[in-house]
Amino acid sequence: MNNVRKATIATAIMLAGGLGQAAQAEVKVGLMLPATGTYAALGKAIENGFKLYVEEQGGKLGGQQIQYFAVDDESDPAKAPENTNRLVQRDKVDVLVGTVHSGVAMGMAKIARDSGVIYIIPNAGADMLTGPLCAKNIFRSSFTNWQPAYGMGIVAAEKQKHKTAVTINWKYAAGTEAADGFREGFEAKGGKVIKELTLPFPNVEFQSLLTEISSLKPDAVFAFFAGGGAVKFVKDYDASGLRKTIPLYGPGFLTDGTLQAQGDAAKGMLTTLHYADELDNPKDKAFRKHYQEKFSMEPDVYAVQGYDAAQLLAAGLNHAKGDIKNKDSVIEGMEQAKVDSPRGPFTMSKAHNPVQNIYLREVVGNHNKSLGVAVANLEDPAKGCKLSK
Ligand code: BEZ
Repeated sequence: MNNVRKATIATAIMLAGGLGQAAQAEVKVGLMLPATGTYAALGKAIENGFKLYVEEQGGKLGGQQIQYFAVDDESDPAKAPENTNRLVQRDKVDVLVGTVHSGVAMGMAKIARDSGVIYIIPNAGADMLTGPLCAKNIFRSSFTNWQPAYGMGIVAAEKQKHKTAVTINWKYAAGTEAADGFREGFEAKGGKVIKELTLPFPNVEFQSLLTEISSLKPDAVFAFFAGGGAVKFVKDYDASGLRKTIPLYGPGFLTDGTLQAQGDAAKGMLTTLHYADELDNPKDKAFRKHYQEKFSMEPDVYAVQGYDAAQLLAAGLNHAKGDIKNKDSVIEGMEQAKVDSPRGPFTMSKAHNPVQNIYLREVVGNHNKSLGVAVANLEDPAKGCKLSK
């Protein structure tokens, strides 16, 4: 029970003021995110971003007070059904928001499909969730694993003129799909992936694989790691001396939210992502200022995705005039949303995944500085999704 927190301004008011049934106009939001383990910081950033947007709206979305319920999912797919049901069956949330890890999100999506609860994914990129497993009530405010990785494949071949590459990643949906996306982009532009190296999540014993890379001598390495694992990989790669001869690339998760800990090991690295620090748009400037003021730290892509999950829900609730029980109308509003995101405006594809720019970024100091748009308005192909727009 101690991994379950229940917090709500509205509840506090109800308890203090005895408003009882009169205060029923609330929307119950279940946040299922990692609070422990290698992805803990990512989960916190998503929660911060979500709550920041709600707070900017005076604690209400679509005129309704937001009541939060939270569960630590531990980035453990085996515990996903039980953890999700704590929110859906026990707490009876109206909206499920989570999570970081693709494997856990697959478990959440099954319960969302079976129960019909509105489900917003603020990170997990599993291609299937907005592919063959897409559903009317499932939305993403983030990306598919394919999107940034495909962009990096194009950049590595076309701009960086590499001919051969080795991929290295954790062996679960996110890593495997990122490696597949990179290969697709890289090989479409004439490159060749000569070896795919993997290790189980969340293992960080990279040494033997780095030795193998050294003997394979590719032109480039593409890596998928995130959170604590990304910090360790980038530092180990640098310490091995490989960086001097074989450039390291990745989707931006390799350097997002991690730069302070990676220090000089990440300096000059190129990555691709749907966000970059210091994008020159007013929404991003305001968002970064508020985030910094409230949390005394700079936001990252995970914070943006949490913020946009709340914006997406707001679009749905506004469309339904605040009536969360009118699910069809909430869904229609979310489908039609044009989200004014810090990453730049985005719309929803027919599979409910953002259609968005993929930026090429370079690590300069503690920032992932944008070098411009690598692929504009990239839409995931959503193979196998039967939804129509
Ligand atoms: C995933 O599991 O989908 C994921 C985790 C961290 C960063 C990006 C993707």
